[in-house]
Amino acid sequence: MEELIAKHVSDSEIEQIQPVFKAHLNAQNRLFGGQLVAWIDIVAGAVARRHSCRNVTTAEIDNLQFKLPVSANDVVVLHGKMTFVGRTSMEVRVDSFVEALNGERKLVNTAYLVLVALDENGKPTPAPKLICDTPEEKAEWDAGRKRRGLRERRRAESY
Ligand SMILES: CC(C)(COP(=O)(O)OP(=O)(O)OC[C@H]1O[C@@H](n2cnc3c(N)ncnc32)[C@H](O)[C@@H]1OP(=O)(O)O)[C@@H](O)C(=O)NCCC(=O)NCCS
Repeated sequence: MEELIAKHVSDSEIEQIQPVFKAHLNAQNRLFGGQLVAWIDIVAGAVARRHSCRNVTTAEIDNLQFKLPVSANDVVVLHGKMTFVGRTSMEVRVDSFVEALNGERKLVNTAYLVLVALDENGKPTPAPKLICDTPEEKAEWDAGRKRRGLRERRRAESY
C-alpha cells in the first residue's frame, strides 16, 4: 500500500478573497446565507484536496452562526485550515470576515466541515496524518477530536 506522507497545517492553508456583487444578495440587500455557505464549502474542499491530494466530498458542515450582515461592495475574506484528521475524514475550519478598505477585518462566521478523501472508485480512502506545529494548532486538534466524538454521538442518536 502507498505510504502517505504526513503534512503540516500550513501545507494546505488557504485564504480566498470574494467580492460581494448584486447577484449574491437576498431581498433585504444582504449577502444570501446560502451563497456564503457555498464559498465556505469551496474553500474547505480546496484545503482537504490539498492535504489529501485526492478528490474529496463534504460529509458534514456544522456550527454555522451568522454574526454580522454583509452588504454589496463588501469584500469577504475566507480563511481555511485543516484542524483534525481521522482515518479517511478531515476536519477543516473556515473563518469568514468582512474586510474594510483600511484592511480591518470583522468575523462574520466560523464553520467546521468534515470532508472525506475518495479513491478512484469514489470510496473513502485514508488521508495523510496532520502535523500540528503551534500550540494553537495542537489546541484545535484536541478540540477537533472532541467535536468528532460529539458528531459520532449525534449520528448514533440520529439528531
Ligand atoms: C461521506 C461519505 C463518503 C461517507 O461514506 P460512508 O460509506 O459512510 O463511509 P464510512 O462509514 O467509511 O465513513 C468514512 C469517514 O467519514 C466519516 N463520516 C461519515 N459520515 C459522516 C458524517 N455525517 N459526518 C461526519 N463524518 C462522517 C466517518 O466517521 C469516517 O471517518 P474516518 O475514516 O476518519 O473514521 C458518504 O456518506 C457520502 O458520499 N455522502 C454524500 C456526500 C456528498 O455528496 N456531499 C456533497 C454535498 S450534497
